[in-house]
Amino acid sequence: MVLISGSGSNLQAIIDAVREGRIDADIRAVVSNRQAFGLARAAQAGVPAELLQAARGEARGDYDRRLLELTERYRPDLLVLAGFMRILSAGFVEHYAGRMLNIHPSLLPAYKGLDTHARALADGCTRHGATVHFVTAELDSGPALIQGIVNVAPLDTVETLSARVQRAEHIIYPQALEWFAAGRARCTADRLLFDGEPLSEPKRMLIDA
Ligand code: GRF
Repeated sequence: MVLISGSGSNLQAIIDAVREGRIDADIRAVVSNRQAFGLARAAQAGVPAELLQAARGEARGDYDRRLLELTERYRPDLLVLAGFMRILSAGFVEHYAGRMLNIHPSLLPAYKGLDTHARALADGCTRHGATVHFVTAELDSGPALIQGIVNVAPLDTVETLSARVQRAEHIIYPQALEWFAAGRARCTADRLLFDGEPLSEPKRMLIDA
């Protein structure tokens, strides 16, 4: 099950990978908290598309209870956050402990939070990228499974750099899901196991995109 808020280009990469048989799973539903193009991508792929907007002034806990009710209707094995722009409450995260992945546009632990590309450029980083990690209560801090690394070019702008990072995202997210679906990547008690062995550092791919 995939949660989105926006264009859904990562969702599309996942849909394509499922369709091509690279991920041994089906997408039970797509949920968006906003009217977003990703919902059309889901419908186009024949996947149930659910819009769940927060009411004006609705408390986070109340929204998350409604979200949980919706997600549980589909009995998901995994929740895939793909550009879902809401912070989830601790109870929701706890419910899906070890069963929720997120993609973040930086090489975590660097640049948690927003505006990651601008901050990496301002710091003169020569490498940047994206991280797929299991979700824990602390924002952008759960165990990292895979990172896609891109080189930063001297003339990069936020736009050119974010486009390059997104191309990396479209490679590493399907890869992470392939591993999870095959039972190769597991997270219990905030500990990541890969093929049954503790994974102390994320897998890394240099993506020359
Ligand atoms: C991605 O860049 C992801 O890293 C961030 O939100 C963006 C979502 O893009 N969390 P899309 O909706 O998948 O195109």
